[in-house]
Amino acid sequence: MAASLAIKNLSRNFGALKAIDDLSLEIPELAVAAFVGANGAGKTTTFSVIAGFLRANSGTIEISGEDVRAYRRRGGRMGLLPQDVQFYDERSIYRQLKMFALLEGLSGAAADAEVDRVLELAHLTEKAKEKPGALSRGMKARLGVAQALIGDPPIIILDEPTAGLDPRMLAEFRKTIDRLRGRSTIVISSHDLSELETLCDYVCMIDHGKLVRQGPLREMLGASSTVVYELESALTGVEDIAEKVAPWKVRLLESNKLEVSFDPREHKAADVNAALLKILLESGAAIRNVRSERTLEQSYFEATDKD
Ligand SMILES: Nc1ncnc2c1ncn2[C@@H]1O[C@H](COP(=O)(O)OP(=O)(O)OP(=O)(O)O)[C@@H](O)[C@H]1O
Ligand SMILES: [Mg+2]
Repeated sequence: MAASLAIKNLSRNFGALKAIDDLSLEIPELAVAAFVGANGAGKTTTFSVIAGFLRANSGTIEISGEDVRAYRRRGGRMGLLPQDVQFYDERSIYRQLKMFALLEGLSGAAADAEVDRVLELAHLTEKAKEKPGALSRGMKARLGVAQALIGDPPIIILDEPTAGLDPRMLAEFRKTIDRLRGRSTIVISSHDLSELETLCDYVCMIDHGKLVRQGPLREMLGASSTVVYELESALTGVEDIAEKVAPWKVRLLESNKLEVSFDPREHKAADVNAALLKILLESGAAIRNVRSERTLEQSYFEATDKD
């Protein structure tokens, strides 16, 4: 059972600073939601209030329509990877996770089974006997993710889970999220917008503690995305290509650079590539480079641009 998350008119001050300023947003059940905003925008503060580490000055938070405090009191589960997750250096990964499982109210054998489950999900099974003190930063982040998954919570909040992950760990993290997709509602903060674009299907953008934009990723990407094909030599027959790929729009940026625009709500860049690569290769063109625009980034700049 996944949960929805609704934040209404939430505010939290630190002295004169409004870290969260009348923030309202709604994340639908089963979304994999990106939580995006500049350094200091209020992401970690918002997560801390949701988790109950910090009090709000005003406003409400509801999990599937229930006040979050009532939800927690009756033992409702919520997984959290804090931004600066800390572990006991001297206890093995297995023992730490076991402790979290026991805290979640699981007993002996069930706790062991749960630890095995999250170790496997977080690709940490082989590290179970190691101590966090000996772990690299990326490995610690991964242990943090494992800990957030204990108890199979309906909502999982991950504050910068991909910071410091090497490419292979990043690929494994994507697999972990894919296995949770459709099972739990997941909220992920990160500054890597192209990464979020591949992971998430919903986006909340915040700035100075306020919501500036939210919605399904497809809507957020706007009405036009582009792929640019750079060729080894000048391209001819552009009109023929345009005819073949309509309604996508085709134009030459330079004699050897072809731009194809499409509506990302209707098609994926992969569809465009499949069609264009075939046409270009059949026409004998040698392709030097293919570049797809990082449109979540564009949308973010539009939403947060002060000018
Ligand atoms: N305990 C605190 N005391 C005083 N100010 C704080 C405290 N925690 C956060 N702030 C301030 O609140 C604002 C929001 O901080 P927050 O950590 O929520 O931002 P963030 O969006 O998570 O940023 P980052 O991307 O850098 O992690 C910042 O201006 C920060 O300096
Ligand atoms: Mg933060």
